[in-house]
Amino acid sequence: MNSITFHQKQFAYQQIGEGFPIVFIHGFCEDSRIWEDFYAPLAFQKIIIDIPGFGQSQWIENYTLETVADGIKAVLDQLDIPECILIGHSMGGYISLAFANKYPECLKGFGLFHSHPYADTEEKKNNRTKSIEFVSQYGSEPFVKQLVPKLFSDKTRDNHQRVINTLIDRAKRYEPHAIAGALQAMRDRPDQSDVLKKAQSPVLFIVGNEDQAIPKPYSLEQTHLPERASINILEGIGHMGMFEDTANCQRMVEEFILFCLK
Ligand code: MLT
Repeated sequence: MNSITFHQKQFAYQQIGEGFPIVFIHGFCEDSRIWEDFYAPLAFQKIIIDIPGFGQSQWIENYTLETVADGIKAVLDQLDIPECILIGHSMGGYISLAFANKYPECLKGFGLFHSHPYADTEEKKNNRTKSIEFVSQYGSEPFVKQLVPKLFSDKTRDNHQRVINTLIDRAKRYEPHAIAGALQAMRDRPDQSDVLKKAQSPVLFIVGNEDQAIPKPYSLEQTHLPERASINILEGIGHMGMFEDTANCQRMVEEFILFCLK
């Protein structure tokens, strides 16, 4: 991995291949390795980010999703990249929206891969606060052990035990304060529906119709907001389409990129 210094800390990324740059942003309690079998067939330049506190990026103080978006912009500036397409998984989608809000001129398009633009409900905020207390008291391992299996649908979970174990094994090593800080940043994020309503560039939606992490009504409601959208609903898939339905998701991402670059 390469890195830049951002807020006096290491912000890690990888630059792979050539062509128009596609930036991949992983979700909560993950790191850039979730994309390693996904991006290979895509014949573009890939910039794969580790968000602060996960993978090889160090934790930063005053962590907000907007700050992470600033870090991604700093990576793009370092690489002399004026325009890209962002693909964000879940929390990575929240970060993509923060980026689209602040740097719309840098985007040819962006994708919400099992994500949405709405703020947390009061109930969800309370659950985040309880999770922050839990992870701070008991550590990362018991938290991620109950989190990760639920990200897969009932139909795909049994066939993905090895991936689930790998994801848990990585996630249990993240510092509890990084997990707690990411939970807090998600809890406190603003509603970004307007970013979708005002989006000048096309938006990709990949929705798993058995995704327990994204409230069902949100998944479809959001798809009506942008002027130009590619809407993809995956039957029997949960929150991890890059593993649960890899080839289909690769095709959706590739078609979207080609559409944006037309
Ligand atoms: C994620 O996968 O990034 C999270 O499930 C998003 C969330 O908790 O809202």
